[in-house]
Amino acid sequence: MPVPAEYVRTLHAYELRILLALERLMRRYQWVPLETLRSATGFSESELSYRLGRLIAMDMVRSEKVPYDGYALVFNGYDALALNTLTRRGTIQALGILIGVGKESEVCEAMGLGPVILKFHRVGQRSFQSARLKRGYMPETGHCPWIFASNHSARAEYTALQALHPTVSVPLPIDLNRHVVVMSLIPGVDLVRASLEEPEMVLDDILENVREAYRLGIVHGDLSEFNVMVDEKEQCWLIDWPQWVETSHPNADDLLSRDIENILQYFKRKYGIEYAFDEALARVVE
Ligand SMILES: Nc1ncnc2c1ncn2[C@@H]1O[C@H](COP(=O)(O)OP(=O)(O)OP(=O)(O)O)[C@@H](O)[C@H]1O
Ligand SMILES: [Mg+2]
Repeated sequence: MPVPAEYVRTLHAYELRILLALERLMRRYQWVPLETLRSATGFSESELSYRLGRLIAMDMVRSEKVPYDGYALVFNGYDALALNTLTRRGTIQALGILIGVGKESEVCEAMGLGPVILKFHRVGQRSFQSARLKRGYMPETGHCPWIFASNHSARAEYTALQALHPTVSVPLPIDLNRHVVVMSLIPGVDLVRASLEEPEMVLDDILENVREAYRLGIVHGDLSEFNVMVDEKEQCWLIDWPQWVETSHPNADDLLSRDIENILQYFKRKYGIEYAFDEALARVVE
């Protein structure tokens, strides 16, 4: 789950200041020493200890006593920072329900100017975060690995949506902060859950969109019945773009073939449609 909305709403200004200080200091420390945090925030010992206690209870911060008293930001705290920024910017007013949990993301509804989608990227949530806590691994970038990887993933997705919208049928990118992408809500369901009346038309529409993306220099790289959405009128959208590559990338051809293959296989399996791979590929690249 992303951080509970009421935690973000009731976050005290001092607690926010601590989260911001931790975010900054985690470029230098695996565990930020208590004293360093104290001089960064300017709080008294008792104030800091009370506020840290609350942040730990909300699982926004974790602590380690050995070899010294140290504190680290975790995903809940990072979610709170992003949500706080997006709220201050006026991008969102309220958090809605969780609608999807993937390997490397959590997706929920929110209210902005209208209903929107928030996609929280969580790369290395388990791997990096736990490896880091155990081994103290730091990448050369000087960022803590899960923060760096999650921000990178969100930025990659946002960049693709900006390049593709509206030529390709994708969600409208609305805002980006840290590891969170804000985009328009697609009024439909995942292709895998739809029972299409005119599957040939939808398959055609998907290939047409893959072609338009290719012409803009972009290959999806993880296309399947799980990353296409369709609405009641059987209009389709291509979603989930963080792993996209440029058409000049050395793996682009393989990824494009796999994307097309996945889609053709699905329409064959579920609707008995025979569409030759070579024909589909030619349609996309020519
Ligand atoms: N803009 C959107 N509007 C409506 N629903 C969406 C939107 N974006 C995502 N969803 C829903 O959330 C689910 C998960 O989103 P997405 O596919 O982008 O990430 P993911 O599959 O969790 O990522 P990963 O590949 O890391 O597992 C989608 O299958 C879809 O049902
Ligand atoms: Mg997906």
